[in-house]
Amino acid sequence: MAQSFGVIGLAVMGENLALNVERNGFPIAVYNRSREKTDTFMATRATGKNVVAAYTLEEFVAALERPRKILIMVKAGAPVDATIQQLKPLLDEGDILIDGGNSLFKDTARRAEELESAKFTFIGMGVSGGEEGALNGPSLMPGGTKQAYDFLEPILTKIAAQVDDGPCVTYIGPGGAGHYVKMVHNGIEYGDMQLIAEAYDLLKNVLGLNAQQLHEVFAEWNTTDELNSYLIEITADVFKVSDPDSGLPLVDVIKDAAGQKGTGRWTVDDALEIGVAIPTIIAAVTARIMSSYKQERVEAAKQITGPSATFDGDVKAFIPKIRDALYCSKMCSYAQGMALLSKASELYGYDLNLGECARIWKGGCIIRAGFLNKIKHAFDENPGLPNLLLAPEFKQTILDRQAAWREVVATAAQLGIPVPAFSASLDYFDSYRRDRLPQNLTQAQRDYFGAHTYERTDKPGTFHTDWIHTVDQEPEAVLAK
Ligand code: 6PG
Repeated sequence: MAQSFGVIGLAVMGENLALNVERNGFPIAVYNRSREKTDTFMATRATGKNVVAAYTLEEFVAALERPRKILIMVKAGAPVDATIQQLKPLLDEGDILIDGGNSLFKDTARRAEELESAKFTFIGMGVSGGEEGALNGPSLMPGGTKQAYDFLEPILTKIAAQVDDGPCVTYIGPGGAGHYVKMVHNGIEYGDMQLIAEAYDLLKNVLGLNAQQLHEVFAEWNTTDELNSYLIEITADVFKVSDPDSGLPLVDVIKDAAGQKGTGRWTVDDALEIGVAIPTIIAAVTARIMSSYKQERVEAAKQITGPSATFDGDVKAFIPKIRDALYCSKMCSYAQGMALLSKASELYGYDLNLGECARIWKGGCIIRAGFLNKIKHAFDENPGLPNLLLAPEFKQTILDRQAAWREVVATAAQLGIPVPAFSASLDYFDSYRRDRLPQNLTQAQRDYFGAHTYERTDKPGTFHTDWIHTVDQEPEAVLAK
């Protein structure tokens, strides 16, 4: 009997997704470029399961029922194109290829077009949740034709994480929509991780908490309705692990230089491209880059000093203020991510349902959190909401906590502790809520040096001033008086 689902690429995500599909009642066929990997998988993890190993793509394709459903789990970029090119001559009309890697949405859109013009179907599917999620229930973000999604739905809804209001999968939209939403998920993930890192820095280096106390604070925050989330939970866990060599908390001996594979930067690239302000996410990507200058920072630290003051306030009272700052900043970060999705939806024709995007992130994925319920409700209540900060609940929460948030950012600045994502979020909030920003001056300068023209607040039209000849009288020096 033919197998109902195929997986190409047996790195850990591919293996785990394959096993997840099989466990849910769909016989599978697997293929990996190197034979040894397939053999090991078959001998160690696939025994007693309904798995057929194929050692050539011909064998693999022949093992699958039609129309074939093939999940490609190879490295994003050229390997995806290479796999598609090798498969193409072996496929039949109507076969469905699914790319489950972290592919760039523009590549996905191109591949979808190419494959659809050849009468195949292509789904670009964001998969979040790491190894564990892939095996036991990830969050899935499939984009492509609705028809192909409907065909895959019985499988996808079974393998996805399950939450109170359904499986963490939905039809996202056409072309590269699924990978776009996954990219923004990752941008938000970068924001969350940086905000948590800043809270940790303040708790440890300003308030002087040790690893056990840090564990307790994060564990306590994880019980709150607002911060309960996977990332806060694993943060609490991290502080409980000690290094067997030094006996120190393991986190203390980890080099402070963050890696990145690129999805955060892609989020920034596209936001800048389509004109959406995502300063918290930009700060998070930048903070990783700054952290990577480890050697240079070590040298600079010897030469440049900051404030010498230390915290002299009430440690116990400051901890909830840091929590409030974290939460307010998080709201701003998600407001930015959702605004980016909204603009992309309009420009790229994705027709996204933002409430559904928030819902499918409630389980399985790295940013899973109780908080996403609030976002879902905000968009369910008002699908046209221009910005999350305008949703009554978010607005009120920030208003209630902004004093603490401002105090935390100001204290950090006074003590010389960088809080780039906390401050970027606060600046986002203050910029968004101001009806007048200083860019009237920017416009004047642009018109001065480049005749770029400006608009006026009091009448319609486009104006230009001959600034050089208008400022030729020396004004009276009022400041000196
Ligand atoms: C997920 C993760 C996953 C991966 C990131 C990490 O949703 O499961 O986001 O996609 O862990 O690629 O990205 P960086 O290496 O850039 O931190």
